[in-house]
Amino acid sequence: MPDTPPPDQIYCDYAATAPLRPEVRETMHQAGQLPGNPSSIHQSGQVAKVLLERARQTAADALGAEPREIVFTSGGTEANNTVFPGLLGSGDHVVTSMTEHPSVQRPLERLEPLGVTVTQVAPQANGMIQAGDIEAALRPNTRLISVMCVNNETGALADLDALGDVASRHGLLFHTDAVQALGKTPLDVNRSGIHFLSASAHKIGGPKGTGLLYARKGTPFHNLIAGGSQENSHRGGTENVAGIAGFARAIEIATAEYGELHSRLIGFRKILLGDLDDGNLSYNVNGTGTIPGIVNLQFPGVNGQALVMNLDGRGYAVSYGSSCASGSSEASHVLLAMGLTQAEATSAIRVSFGYATTREEVLGVAAALGDIVGKLQSDSLHAGKEATVE
Ligand SMILES: Cc1ncc(COP(=O)(O)O)c(C=O)c1O
Repeated sequence: MPDTPPPDQIYCDYAATAPLRPEVRETMHQAGQLPGNPSSIHQSGQVAKVLLERARQTAADALGAEPREIVFTSGGTEANNTVFPGLLGSGDHVVTSMTEHPSVQRPLERLEPLGVTVTQVAPQANGMIQAGDIEAALRPNTRLISVMCVNNETGALADLDALGDVASRHGLLFHTDAVQALGKTPLDVNRSGIHFLSASAHKIGGPKGTGLLYARKGTPFHNLIAGGSQENSHRGGTENVAGIAGFARAIEIATAEYGELHSRLIGFRKILLGDLDDGNLSYNVNGTGTIPGIVNLQFPGVNGQALVMNLDGRGYAVSYGSSCASGSSEASHVLLAMGLTQAEATSAIRVSFGYATTREEVLGVAAALGDIVGKLQSDSLHAGKEATVE
């Protein structure tokens, strides 16, 4: 048992991370008992190797890829960081979006002093990145398009087929950060003409600290982590066998449950928004064309961070912006890029549901929101300013 017991909370923050699935915990427990290093040629090593290669096959199947195109990493952040350096050099141009995760934005920024230029395309007001806008930003020296599949703050879903089509017509490489997409929307690297795809285990009930990079065979690839010849010489370091086995188990379950969970989440979203409507609250949903599990809500006149703290006090875990920005009261770069004002962006929160969410939990968070927001909005009306919470 952990020293610190889990809080007695209703968890509505699946976009930050999903609770570890019990089946995954069991798989990891078993894999963790294997003594061998998958690179060793003795039997113990080979047993670990078999497990690793089975996991690679599972991950490849989920993406329509070949096993040798899967590189296991320490997570989505490492996968994103691996794509750009080495691939891009002085004189190269990259087209990306203004709503990317920091693990795409920061590594690209680091390349700018080395002569790489980056264009960040604005989303539509609904949060979607249009393939036509990406195409309009191309230059003769563009080498790569990098656009996320599902936005972590709004859930906005990109049309990967259309983006891949732009890349292919112009002979460009195409990377997508699919950390919030794996298991939440069908992915097929060949149909969408994807060269690189990043994914992470912990958003689907796998372990934190495990992810993958799909790298199309024949595409230039540069190691971020140099060392031994593990991962087809694409990433040095003894593989995290238990984590990878757990990741594969999470992928298997997410794939098997996809249709049913998707419908359940659509229902939960309707319940949440229906309850807010019934409570006569003033609110907006930021983003359309989203995956159902992520709901970005803006409550005029309410401080989003205070709202998160108030919900926490009532036993509900939700987010202000993304989890990597937590602790920061700055307005979300995603919402600002969508055209929200500073005041609008700081009055938003993200509620996200997943595999273990129940109808009662959705009703509970909706009721708590109605209660707290109702009070804050009436306070703010009377005070004539944005309400915060004591
Ligand atoms: C869109 C997106 N990309 C990348 C990451 C980083 O993934 P990881 O936590 O596995 O490093 C996240 C996680 O928050 C994410 O939401």
